[in-house]
Amino acid sequence: MASESFDNRKGILWIDGQFVDWSEAKIHVLSHALHYASAVFEGERAYNGKVFRLHDHTYRLHRSAQILGFQIPYAPDQINTVTMDLLKRNNLMDAYIRPIAWRGSEDMGVSAHSKSIHLAIACWAWPSYFSPEARQKGIKLIVSPWARPAPNTAPTAAKASGLYMICTLSKNMAEEQGCQDALMLDWRGQVAESTGANLFMVKDGQVHTPKADCFLDGITRQTVMGLARGLNITVIERAIMPDELAKADEVFLTGTAAEVTPVGQIGDWTYTPGAVTAALIEAYTQTVNS
Ligand SMILES: Cc1ncc(COP(=O)(O)O)c(C=O)c1O
Repeated sequence: MASESFDNRKGILWIDGQFVDWSEAKIHVLSHALHYASAVFEGERAYNGKVFRLHDHTYRLHRSAQILGFQIPYAPDQINTVTMDLLKRNNLMDAYIRPIAWRGSEDMGVSAHSKSIHLAIACWAWPSYFSPEARQKGIKLIVSPWARPAPNTAPTAAKASGLYMICTLSKNMAEEQGCQDALMLDWRGQVAESTGANLFMVKDGQVHTPKADCFLDGITRQTVMGLARGLNITVIERAIMPDELAKADEVFLTGTAAEVTPVGQIGDWTYTPGAVTAALIEAYTQTVNS
């Protein structure tokens, strides 16, 4: 059965300063953001009524907007207060939260100096990004033909809508091939990340992850690196070439939606979720629930 359409759910959303019924949160078809991808967003999770690293997510939302050349007209503290209020109004203790800021529809054209800036926040229950069965065995990835762009060809440090065009193409391709996601290499041919999460590999008990110099330096990635170091596991951030993944002992993804997800296959290479991934899943679960 197809899941319920997102424009047809029950609940309360916040848009441009107002709490409104879910069905009333509409924008005009000539919005600049829709035509020219002038939108930035966040993905956050609440556990037991508390949003994990809310301040960091809100800060990144503001920062992403600045990178795209606009200022969100709500202060971070206001956004944090609205987020907590919204969870309460929707009776949600465990939820995924999606704030999005975008340019409006005053006039049509690529230039965007005079466009209004809008902000909306939605939240809903979303227990698992990948199915529990796939998570247990480790998810399957294809290697995407799309490369993460160089930082001088796209605003790669921002969580900006336009950057997800190649992610959707890659993820659709993966699902059409019976996989759950795609590994994306970068413009240099180095390992980058998946379509919505950062990537780590384990080799001889040490954790390796690519330097986040042309893709999102995830908040979960930073958390998991700290947790690994706390468990006396060496963490190395460096350039990783794809053939190194052939020799990895374990591979896993990190992200707010994906949390810590074991990888069971990348193309022809297979992995068994192991002790390091299990220890980090455990540590992450404890941290977000504490
Ligand atoms: C492309 C991409 N990379 C990485 C991440 C992980 O970021 P975070 O851990 O901050 O959720 C996300 C999720 O937001 C993402 O969409």
